[in-house]
Amino acid sequence: MTDVLAPPFRLTQFARCAGCAAKMGPADLKRALAPLPLRDDPAILVGRESFDDAGVYRLSSELALVQTVDFFAPIVDDPYAFGQVAAANALSDVYAMGGEPMTALSIVGFPTGTLPLEVLTDIMRGGQDKVQEAGAVLIGGHTITDEELKFGLSVTGRVHPDRILANTGAVVGDVLILTKALGTGLVATAVKRGAATAAHEQAMLDSMVMLNRVACEAAVALRLRCATDVTGFSLLGHASHIARASGVTLRIHVSTLPVLPGAREALAAGIRTGGAERNFAYLETLVAWGSVTPEQRALAIDPQTSGGLLVACPAHLVADYLSRVPGAVVVGEVTARGEHLLVLE
Ligand code: CO
Ligand code: CO
Repeated sequence: MTDVLAPPFRLTQFARCAGCAAKMGPADLKRALAPLPLRDDPAILVGRESFDDAGVYRLSSELALVQTVDFFAPIVDDPYAFGQVAAANALSDVYAMGGEPMTALSIVGFPTGTLPLEVLTDIMRGGQDKVQEAGAVLIGGHTITDEELKFGLSVTGRVHPDRILANTGAVVGDVLILTKALGTGLVATAVKRGAATAAHEQAMLDSMVMLNRVACEAAVALRLRCATDVTGFSLLGHASHIARASGVTLRIHVSTLPVLPGAREALAAGIRTGGAERNFAYLETLVAWGSVTPEQRALAIDPQTSGGLLVACPAHLVADYLSRVPGAVVVGEVTARGEHLLVLE
C-alpha cells in the first residue's frame, strides 16, 4: 500500500483524455455497429437505429422504460464534482427522451492501490447526491480495478409511450432551442493544461452539474415531440442525428449560439481537442458550413459533457418554453430536407 498517492493530486491525471472527448468517434461507432442486425420487436419504441439518447421499451399502453448508460474518465479534479458531473451527464439521456429517472446503477473503474479509497467515496457521494436530486435512487453497481479512473451510471426511467421526445419528432417550421451554453470541452482542456481562470472553471462546473430536469419537464408539459442532449458528438453531431432521423434539414444560427465564459479564451490560447477533430471528420460533408468563422465552427463541434437539451419547438410555444427554462436560447429552425443535414448561417 506504500504507493497510494497522498493529496494533493489531480484527478484528471488519471484520464487519458478529457471527459466525453474520450467517446469513440461517431464515424467509427457507425462502422462497427453496421454489420449487426437490428432486432425487430414492436415493444422497442426507440432502438439504436435513430442514434437516440436512450432506448425506450414499451411495457404497456401507458408505460415505457427509458434505459441508458454513460461513464467516462475524470473531466474535473475534484472527486465530488466529478461524481456530480458524471451522474448529471448520465441522467441527462433519460431527460432527453422526456423520461423521469427512477433507478441508477454505478459503473466504476478505480486505480486501487494508487488512489486512496476516500476518493472513490467522494465520487460516489457526488453521484448519489445528483441521483437523489433527480428524484431517483442508486440501487447498486459494479466496480473494477482499472488504471484509468472511470465513473458513470446506468439509469432507468419511465415515460408515457405517447410523450417520448425522440430524434424522429422534428417537424418543418419548428424552432430549435438550446438550453445550456457550449464550450465544456474547450474549457475542461484549458483547465487540464493550467490555462483557465478559476472563474471560468467554476462556470463550466456549474453548467455541467446542472440537471436537464427543468428543460425536460417544460418540453413534456408543452407536449413537444423532439429533443436530444448535446454531449460528446457536439451540437452539430447531435443535431445531425435529429435531421437524419426526422428527414429534415436543420438551420443553425451560429452567431446566436450561447457560449460558456472561458471557451473563446481557450480557443484563442490555442486549445484544441481530439474529440472536435473526430466530430469534424464525421460532419464535414453533412454540413453546409457557409461563411462560419473558425471560432464559431470550433464551438459548434466542441464535444460537450453534460450539455443542455436541443429541443425542436413549434413556433407558437417558443415564448412559453423560454419562460420556463432559464438559459434557453433560440439557435435555429427546422426546414425541409435539402442537400445537407445541417446548414450554418
Ligand atoms: Co444523449
Ligand atoms: Co449518452
